[in-house]
Amino acid sequence: MSTSIEPSLWELPGQSRKVYFFNELVSTMDTAFEMANRNCTHGTVIVAGRQTGGRGRLTRVWHSEAGGLYFTVILRPDLPLEYSSRFGFVASYCLAQTLRRDFSLRAMVKWPNDLLVNDHKIAGMLSQVGADGDQIGFLNIGIGLNVNHTPIELAPQATSLSALLNRNVSRKEILSSFLKRLDKYLSDSGAMERIIENWKRYTVTLGREVKIVTNKRVYNGIARDVDASGALIIECKNGTLQTILYGDCFHR
Ligand code: BTN
Repeated sequence: MSTSIEPSLWELPGQSRKVYFFNELVSTMDTAFEMANRNCTHGTVIVAGRQTGGRGRLTRVWHSEAGGLYFTVILRPDLPLEYSSRFGFVASYCLAQTLRRDFSLRAMVKWPNDLLVNDHKIAGMLSQVGADGDQIGFLNIGIGLNVNHTPIELAPQATSLSALLNRNVSRKEILSSFLKRLDKYLSDSGAMERIIENWKRYTVTLGREVKIVTNKRVYNGIARDVDASGALIIECKNGTLQTILYGDCFHR
């Protein structure tokens, strides 16, 4: 690894995967990308105590001070590239379930893969795919979850587990619980087929007036549906439907 500090290994009960913990990284996405290119095994996880160059979607910065959970999981599904977009939905659904079941929080998903509690953002996700011909070579999912931050460190529209629960929580336990759910989901082909339907049960986006910002333009309209590929369908003011594959979504 091109990082100067050696990682420690996080042992997660009942899991044989390798979880590398670094006190500090530029971005877990960069380290995971290197690891994926060095043929690390399916399920390997890179965790950082903090990130100096944390990345958000569409070139945004992801502020990554100590206290949060910042990680990238490296997956090697034996699937064609067109299945790639499902994995962000699987990860956001599994993380929402983790927050619901483990902490009794009403976690909701905002298209494409943000997690909100009480309309405040608690987690964001980013994925990176490496192709092997027309197959997925690796698929890295990076997740930033606000865990033990104090609210003052967060943006006004954000929240954290400690702010909601009034106590600190173990990042290792959350990671372990999330990864168990993710493994179970990924091993169930029926559930994988139903991911968009399952995700829709938790979403706060559909039916809302939204502004969608992509690399090329801005769309305004009502979010009407999410199709089988995960694209958002919005109804614009002139009544036309637009299908948007990727972008940032703002609820109005
Ligand atoms: C977003 O909501 O814009 C996506 C945020 C993704 C942040 C995570 S933190 C772990 C991983 N490493 C990064 O640099 N980004 C992702």
